[in-house]
This record gives sequence, structure tokens and C-alpha cells, in this order.
Amino acid sequence: MPFIYIKTFGCQMNIYDSARMLGAFEKLGYQATNKKEEADVLLLNTCHIREKASEKLFSEIGRLNEVKKQRKQEGKDTLLIVAGCVVQAEGSEILERAHAVDIAVGPQNYHQLPELVTRYNRRKGRILEAHFPAASKFDFLPPIKANSASVFLAVQEGCDKFCSYCVVPYTRGCEYSRSATEILEEAKGLVETGAQEIMLLGQNVNCWRGEKNGQKMDLGDLIVSLSEIDGLERIRYTTSYPSEMTQNLIDAHRDVPKLMPYIHLPIQSGSNTVLKAMNRHYTTDTYEEIIARFRKARPDIAVSSDFIVGFPGETEEDFEQTLSLVKRVRYASSFSFKYSPRPGTPASFMKNQIPEPVKTERLIRLQQVLLEQQKEFNQNTVGKILPVLLVEKGKEKGQLTGYTPYLQPTHVKMNSRFLNTIQSLKITGASATSLTSE
Ligand code: SAH
Ligand code: SF4
Ligand code: F3S
Repeated sequence: MPFIYIKTFGCQMNIYDSARMLGAFEKLGYQATNKKEEADVLLLNTCHIREKASEKLFSEIGRLNEVKKQRKQEGKDTLLIVAGCVVQAEGSEILERAHAVDIAVGPQNYHQLPELVTRYNRRKGRILEAHFPAASKFDFLPPIKANSASVFLAVQEGCDKFCSYCVVPYTRGCEYSRSATEILEEAKGLVETGAQEIMLLGQNVNCWRGEKNGQKMDLGDLIVSLSEIDGLERIRYTTSYPSEMTQNLIDAHRDVPKLMPYIHLPIQSGSNTVLKAMNRHYTTDTYEEIIARFRKARPDIAVSSDFIVGFPGETEEDFEQTLSLVKRVRYASSFSFKYSPRPGTPASFMKNQIPEPVKTERLIRLQQVLLEQQKEFNQNTVGKILPVLLVEKGKEKGQLTGYTPYLQPTHVKMNSRFLNTIQSLKITGASATSLTSE
């Protein structure tokens, strides 16, 4: 039986895509392995969001080429495939610069992989496939099975927002919603094969729109439909765009017990001047008003965000406005990044780029505040009894790791027969990054 090794960079959408690509290869008789040496196919699923992401790719290709050469000496052929967002952005450069790569396939073309492999094997030379087809790739892929009690399901893809710093509209194409029927069917299949929690994915997941029996639906309605699936215990969704939030979706947090009390709503900056330059279509007031509505619907909701520091033109004053916004909102968790100029994006041409040391200093200051808030949020759950979905074995023997409704990872000493179950645990300790419980 041939083996395939997959390494994934980037966001949850890429992790989901890797699972779908694996599904396509399994249908061809391949089996997944985590040993590169035994793999007949080596696949890298790449990300282009920040500088380091694509730098990492070329060193990774170098490492895999060593494996490929070693296998060649043993008389074995190895196919090296690069997939994902870097291919969409600079596929031809990858083929030029990295001769070890046999096939480069963009994020909207990976359903063609079986055919591309056949074409390659007929010795037609190296292949680059990176265009936006009219048909949805999902129609051509075998059904996905749950590989954990907690799984991803892509409901929406692409982005029409064109924030001035971001590559996603170029790498993923325009916004597209999968149909409600298709999503519900996939969700049922995932639950039948062991999923208890589904994380709905989309670059702007709350822009999802659909239809059922002639009735228009938004993400809130979709969540209500999903919550009717027996055996599905938890629903989450990410990432939402602030000004696309509907009251119906906010209300779902009050009305649907299976919808977890957690919202990832990236603001990026606390300065309206910077938000405007970023081409984000909201102000800090609108954002805070939306958060207030979430807290009204679900007072205990955990709020999370992404931040970019050092966007071109960001002054010390702008940055301090971000710090004050953070202090007003109080985040349970967050991701923060130094602005990274991406080739071809409008922000990369702006004259007033911020020096690297300033970006670094601001990131450290912001992360200090965010980490403190995260720690405080975690400490506030100590002493509570929370339902925890135990999804994997912990690092230590006899330990399991799971997630609270607020997406806090927690470790517990527990027999492994409790793996893949939801247990009520008492939270006994908290750090900034995780909890302990019993
Ligand atoms: N669609 C989501 C975000 C997708 S990208 C949204 O609009 O909120 C994930 C995060 O990467 C972004 O929220 C942003 O914080 C960060 N990011 C994107 N482009 C970046 C860049 N050029 N430099 C630094 N961070 C970036
Ligand atoms: Fe990128 Fe903006 Fe689209 Fe988010 S909304 S994916 S940050 S362009
Ligand atoms: Fe990266 Fe593409 Fe996701 S650029 S963050 S893998 S959409």
C-alpha cells in the first residue's frame, strides 16, 4: 500500500483542506503516515499570510528533497507536491526555484489531484495548476470522515473584503457559500464517524448565506439546523467579520445551547484612522457595540480577536488607542502579529512603513496586556465545574487534554477510556495558556 505524508501550515481552513486532500488520496489506495522516509507522496500545504510562512516553505522543501534523494538511492520514486496559498500567489516561482517539486496545486484545484498525479505519472513533466474554477471543488471530493471528536467543516470560502494588507482575496478567490444541504449532509457524516464538536470554517464565516425550502438562511439559521443533529454536542464557527454580524447569529448564542459561548471577532486595530487605511469597514464604536450585543445575549461569552501592530502610518497615539480598546473590551484570548508587507497588496506600496524595532516593541507591549487578560479570564474559571470535551491524550502518562466551552485547553489525570467523551470537571488551576482540572 502506498503512503502519503502531509505537512500543513497556516489557518484552520488549510488543516481542513489537508484532510480533504488525504481523503482524495485514500480513495486511490494511499494511507497516511507521519514517517517521511516511507512516504511515496510528500505533500506540503502552504500559507502566504505573513513573510515567515513562505520562507519556511523553501527550507521545508529542502528537507523533503533530502528524503526524496535518499529514497531514490534505495530505488524508490517519491512525488513531491506543494499545495495551498503560496502556490496561488507564486506557483511558477516555486517550480523555478525548487526543482524537487513535481506538482504545485492551488487551493481551489486540489480536487484535481488524482488526475494530476496520473498525468504526472504518464511522464508529462512537472505540473502547475492554480486557477479559480467555476465549479466547487467540494463536489468532486469523497465524503470526509471524522478524525477526532472535534472536527472542522468549511462552509464558506474566499473573501471580497480586500483589506489593504491581506493576500487572502488573491489566494482564495471571491466569497463562496456551500449549500445548506451539502453542509448538513457533511455534518451528519462527521457525527456518524465520531465527531461531537464541529467548528464551522470560513474566511468570513458570518457572510455565509444559504437557502432551505425556499427560505433564505444566514449562519444563525444554519447553526439552528445543525443543532438538530443527534449526537452533535457542540458547534463553533470562525472567523467572523465585525460589520457582517447579524442579530440572528448573535441571538443563536442565547437560544442554541449547543452553540459554544465563544466568539472570534478580529478588530485588527483600535484606531479608526488605521482601520480606514486598512480598508476595514467599521469603526471601534461599531465593533464595541457588537461585542455589547453578544454579551447581552450570552453574558459569559469568551471574546477573542486578531491584532496587527505597525501598520503603515500607525503612530504611537494610534497604537495606544489599540491598548485602550483592549482594556475596554477585555479579551479571553487573542492572536497578534507585526504587520508584514505582502507583495502586490496596496499597503505594501504605502510610503510610511514602520521600522521593524518599533513593530517589535509595540507587539511586546500589546501581548503583555493581552496575556494578562487571558490569564485573568482563565483564573476566573478556577473553582467552577465545566463540561470538557476530552479530545486527546496529554503529554504526561495517564493524562487527557480537552476543551471547556470557552475553548480553554485543560489537562486532567483521567483514564483513557474517557477519551472522546464530555465530562464535568472541576477547574483547579489556571495559567495564561491552560487550565488544570479534576
Ligand atoms: N478574515 C479574517 C482574517 C483572516 S487572516 C478577518 O478579516 O478577520 C488571519 C489574521 O492574519 C488576520 O486577522 C490578521 O490579523 C493577520 N494578517 C493578515 N494579513 C497580515 C499581514 N499582511 N501582516 C500581519 N498580519 C496579517
Ligand atoms: Fe484578509 Fe480582510 Fe478578507 Fe480577512 S476580511 S481574509 S483580513 S482581506
Ligand atoms: Fe494562510 Fe491561506 Fe489560510 S494564506 S492563513 S493558508 S487562507
